[in-house]
Amino acid sequence: LPSRPDLDLAALVRTIPDFPKPGILFRDITTLISDAAGFSESVRRLSERASVYRPDLIVAVEARGFLFGAAMASAMGLGLVPVRKAGKLPGVTVGVDYELEYGTDRLELHEGAVAQGHRVVLVDDLLATGGTILAAAELMRNVGAEVAAAMFVIELPDLGGSKRLSAAGLACETLIA
Ligand code: PRP
Ligand code: ADE
Repeated sequence: LPSRPDLDLAALVRTIPDFPKPGILFRDITTLISDAAGFSESVRRLSERASVYRPDLIVAVEARGFLFGAAMASAMGLGLVPVRKAGKLPGVTVGVDYELEYGTDRLELHEGAVAQGHRVVLVDDLLATGGTILAAAELMRNVGAEVAAAMFVIELPDLGGSKRLSAAGLACETLIA
C-alpha cells in the first residue's frame, strides 16, 4: 500500500469505557488494524522510527505487541522474538513479575533467544504505566542484550509511562499521544 503521511491514526482507535474493569478507558486497536490503510501506515511509521536505532532484532510483547512487532520485523528484514505471559513458551525460560494498570502478571523469554550484546527494539501496542515494557527491558538486561528503544502505537500520558521510561534511561517512540 502507498504511504499515507496524512492519515489520522488516532481516529481509527476506539475507546471503550469500563473494560476490563470499572474506571478503565480501554483503547481498542482492533479498529485500527482492521483498516487496511491504518494498519499498513502504523507499521510503516513504526518501522521507519525503529530503523533509526539500527536494531539486530525486534522483541514484541504478548499479545497485542505481536500484531505490530511481527509486521515490523518482516518489513525491516529482522527476526522477531516473543516475550510471553507465564507458561506459554515451551523451552527453558527466564521470567520477571510486574504490575499492570489492572493487575499483576509475569513475562517470560526463551533462554538463548536473544544473544548477549544484541541491540533490540521492544514493541508493544500501548504504553500505560510502563510496567510491562520496563519488565521486558529488565528481561533484556538479564540476558545481556541492549535495549535501543521501545516503540508504541499509543501512549496514555496521564499514567506517566513515558516519564518512567525516561527516568530509566529508555528511549521511547509513540505514534499517538
Ligand atoms: C496491555 C498493553 C500493554 C500493557 C500496557 O497489555 O497491550 O502490553 O497492557 O500497560 P502498562 O504500560 O501499564 O504495563 P495486557 O497486559 O492487557 O495484555 P494483552 O496485550 O495480552 O491484551
Ligand atoms: N493496557 C493498559 N491500560 C490500557 C488501556 N487503558 N487501554 C488498552 N490497553 C491497556
